[in-house]
Amino acid sequence: MRCYRAPTKTIIVGEHFVVRGSPGLAAAVGLWSYACAEPVEGPGVIEAPDLRIVCKVGSGCRGVEGLEAMLLELGGGVRVRVWSEAPMGAGLGSSASVSVAAAAAALSALYGSFTLEEVERLAWVAERVHHGKPSGIDHTTVLYGGVVRFEARGIYGRIRVSRRPILVLADTGVERSTRRAVEAVLSRLASLRRPLALVYQAAALLVEEATRALEEGDLRRLGEVMDVVQGLLYAIGVSSPEIERLVWTARRAGALGAKLTGAGMGGIVTALVSSMEVGERVARALRDAGARWVRVVEAGVEGLSEASVNTRE
Ligand code: PMV
Repeated sequence: MRCYRAPTKTIIVGEHFVVRGSPGLAAAVGLWSYACAEPVEGPGVIEAPDLRIVCKVGSGCRGVEGLEAMLLELGGGVRVRVWSEAPMGAGLGSSASVSVAAAAAALSALYGSFTLEEVERLAWVAERVHHGKPSGIDHTTVLYGGVVRFEARGIYGRIRVSRRPILVLADTGVERSTRRAVEAVLSRLASLRRPLALVYQAAALLVEEATRALEEGDLRRLGEVMDVVQGLLYAIGVSSPEIERLVWTARRAGALGAKLTGAGMGGIVTALVSSMEVGERVARALRDAGARWVRVVEAGVEGLSEASVNTRE
C-alpha cells in the first residue's frame, strides 16, 4: 500500500473574502491527514476508521461523499483508507487535506505515479461536493504547502517566508457549516453592498501587509494584521461570543494577534505567538478558558508528500 500525507491549513487573511474573488493568504500547518491505497477488483472501498466508515464506492457513502465522488471520477477500483490528526469541519481544511492525500494515494495505487495537477483536479471534485462553491484556497494550500498567496483556483504563488510562524490553534467546540456561513456572508453583502465593498478592499490590502510582514519576519506587524482581519470578519457576521472569548484570551496571554480561521461562527481560533514558550503559555490560558482542543503548531510546512506510515487499524 502506498501512503501519502497532506498538512492542514490556517487562513491568515482572506476567508470569505476569497469567495468573492479577493486574494487570500493561507499557511499549511503541521497537523497531518493520511491516506493509503491499493488497487482492488470492483468499484473500490473507502475506509475512514475515525468516522467508523467502511463504504463501497458508488453505494452512497454518507460522511465521505466528496471522497466517493473523487473515486468515481477516477474510475478505477481502489481501496482507500484515510485519517486525520486535525478535527473535522472546524476550519482547518481537514476535508481538503484528506482529499489531497487520498487523491495522491489512489493515483499512485492505480498508475504508479501522478502529477500535482492531477491531484489538484481530483481533490477539487471532492471539495465541490463538500462545500458547494469553494474558492479553492484550502486544497491549493495543503497540496503545495508553505505560505500561499491565493487569487483563484490555479492562480497562486508561494511566498518567501523568512521564519516559520508559530501558531496556537484552539477549538471553540461550536459546530458550524462552511456552506451556511458562506451563505450568511453573501446575504449580508447583498443588503449592505456599498459599505461592505470597503471591508473587502481593506481585506485585500491586508493580504499585501501580511505578505510583507512574513517576508520580512515582522511577526508583530503580522499579529496586528490578524487582529484587524478579525475585526473585518466580525463586521461581515462570522464571529461569535465563543470565538471572541478565545481570541481575547489568547491576546491577553501574550499572543501577537488572534482571529478565527476558516468559515467562522464556531470552529477554530488561530493565534500568532513569538516563540514555542509563549505558545505553551497561550495554550494553557485557552484550555483554562474552556477551549475543547488546543495545539501549538508550526505554519508554512511542506505540502503533499509520501508518508512512511503503514495502514492504520
Ligand atoms: O471550510 P473552511 O472552514 O476551511 O473555510 C474555507 C474558507 C471560506 O473562505 C469560508 C470558504 C472558501 O471556499 O474559501
